[in-house]
Amino acid sequence: EKQGFRHFMLKEIYEQPGVVRNCLEAYLDDNWNPADVTQSPINLGISPELYADLEQIQILACGTSWHAGLVGKYLLEQLAGIPTMVQYASEFRYAPAPLTANTLTIGVTQSGETADTLAALEMEKRRRFGQLPKYEPRLLGITNRPESSLGQLVNQIIDTHAGIEIGVAATKTFVTQLMAFYGLALDLAWRRQTLTATRMEEILVGLRQLPAQIELILESQERYIEELAHSFAETHDFIFLGRGINFPIALEGALKLKEISYIHAEGYPAGEMKHGPIALLDAKVPVVAIAMPGTVYEKVLSNAQEAKARDARLIGVTPMNEHEAAETFDDLLPVPVVEELLSPILTVIPLQLLAYHIAARRGLDVDQPRNLAKSVTVE
Ligand code: M6R
Repeated sequence: EKQGFRHFMLKEIYEQPGVVRNCLEAYLDDNWNPADVTQSPINLGISPELYADLEQIQILACGTSWHAGLVGKYLLEQLAGIPTMVQYASEFRYAPAPLTANTLTIGVTQSGETADTLAALEMEKRRRFGQLPKYEPRLLGITNRPESSLGQLVNQIIDTHAGIEIGVAATKTFVTQLMAFYGLALDLAWRRQTLTATRMEEILVGLRQLPAQIELILESQERYIEELAHSFAETHDFIFLGRGINFPIALEGALKLKEISYIHAEGYPAGEMKHGPIALLDAKVPVVAIAMPGTVYEKVLSNAQEAKARDARLIGVTPMNEHEAAETFDDLLPVPVVEELLSPILTVIPLQLLAYHIAARRGLDVDQPRNLAKSVTVE
């Protein structure tokens, strides 16, 4: 079943080019005609009532799915111009935001069975039911299990087409959740006319290149990362830094590492370091920084240099063939250069491999880490 891989997690990491291709096939309309404004390039089958007069989006999720939601917020705001908030379902259910009009609520859960996410969505449905039409519930689910309890609860589903995921650590379901958000944000952007046809085409070309680029990272990086993992035999703490659309990837890198290796890890927005966490740094605390070309590239590099000045060992997820980054970091995890909006799908890959190899090296049960279940069906 593991098809020659030592663990399901590693097999699932390697399935990512394929599942991203599944999403491209399912979501992108090959017959799209850029000259026809009435036709969206994205085919999610979402009914016009869910989209009508949309003023706000709220995303509810837990764990890795919440991280996907944070990337989703970035895309929905930057591409489609819709104010979006992301809440932990476990928080929202006991302190819901005041009702806002024409609001789409998106539940993100790969299993479709996470108790807090279901409860938060149920609560939202209940409190909106019977209100004035503009407050009525509009619920969308992003899940890998359309047949799950989530499927029964929401108006519509975006299926992430990742196939069953066995490793407790979410990997392929995360990248496909990101794909669902690209689809949704682009669909909304087209319908609301916030993107030109040229810009849309550019992004679509970029999306289609992702599977091959993930393959390239897997082929070129895995050996190196396996070696690199040896150097963290005695490490107790890690810091992950990112900014902008890669801030959620810093959180995801830290979560992957802590859940399977039991090493304490914190993800932080790089610009917040100097407001406290920088006090943690010394030669014993490695810092992983995601520094990809775009709006915050120089900023992240200078945040990384500040960490270096505190003797931290610096590991950079950086653009391939970039010399400026090469000088800043002690170790490089290079990924192909893509436009910033698409970079999370690539930057997360070396971080999954890093977490995997550190945990495997420690001889831990990577697929079934202690105290964790694949889906958290109790509160
Ligand atoms: O099934 P869900 O996506 O709702 O699960 C949410 C979290 O429990 C899950 O993402 C958890 O954080 C993973 N073990 C992370 O790898």
